[in-house]
Amino acid sequence: MRKKLVAGNWKMNMTFQEGIELINKLLNQAQNIPQDVELLIAPPYIHTSEAARLLKDGAIYLGAQNCSQFDGGAYTGEISARMLRSCGVSHVILGHSERRAYFHEDSDMLKDKLSQALHNQLTPILCCGEQLEERTSDNHFKTITKQLENVLFHFSPEELQTLIIAYEPVWAIGTGKTASPEQAQEMHAHIRQLVNNKFGQSFAENITILYGGSCKPSNAKELFAKPDVDGGLIGGASLKPDDFMAIAKSFPHK
Ligand code: PGA
Repeated sequence: MRKKLVAGNWKMNMTFQEGIELINKLLNQAQNIPQDVELLIAPPYIHTSEAARLLKDGAIYLGAQNCSQFDGGAYTGEISARMLRSCGVSHVILGHSERRAYFHEDSDMLKDKLSQALHNQLTPILCCGEQLEERTSDNHFKTITKQLENVLFHFSPEELQTLIIAYEPVWAIGTGKTASPEQAQEMHAHIRQLVNNKFGQSFAENITILYGGSCKPSNAKELFAKPDVDGGLIGGASLKPDDFMAIAKSFPHK
């Protein structure tokens, strides 16, 4: 079922103590969020076990920012999907543009990561997004199509039942320059059409597509009012509990 979701990507921020403090602040405010809006945080790995303990009543889902493409074994420094699952993680962000750019994650690797997530019952949040030059040269639709096709089209709609997609234009991430609601809507509609063509209408109608890139309390309402924008993947503003919760209250009333 298509969900309204606001997910916080903490990136490499927060010491252990700061993170726990932030989780407690979020928990204090979580009951003020409309029933049909889901909240999720993806802290760094070091917070995972304690976060799972604090979030065990399910008011806020716990995600990870990445997982290994391998099952397990001699891969120093890596964390597997199975390990995350064993700590109480339910979601994993895959293919964030920072991972694509700084850690050379390509479609083949992301296909394996997605497979690991699915086999270990983690809900994948697959990110896609174009660079500024791709948009200015009018290649943004082509870029997103390619990024999604190259990873998702190896799977069946049944396997991808839980998939969430996050559209995050790279030029909008951490820059304060958000996509306009119209730009977000036209890309979200494009993504929905793409999965419709490949996986069918009911899959397309039910998939949750998040917008990410400088989403804040001041622009979330306009973005979430668009028919194909089902929520947000929030970076900077997810570190400020009041902002994160204000974003979660920005969905239009039915
Ligand atoms: P931002 O990051 O909200 O700080 O722009 C979004 C993201 O990278 O997920």
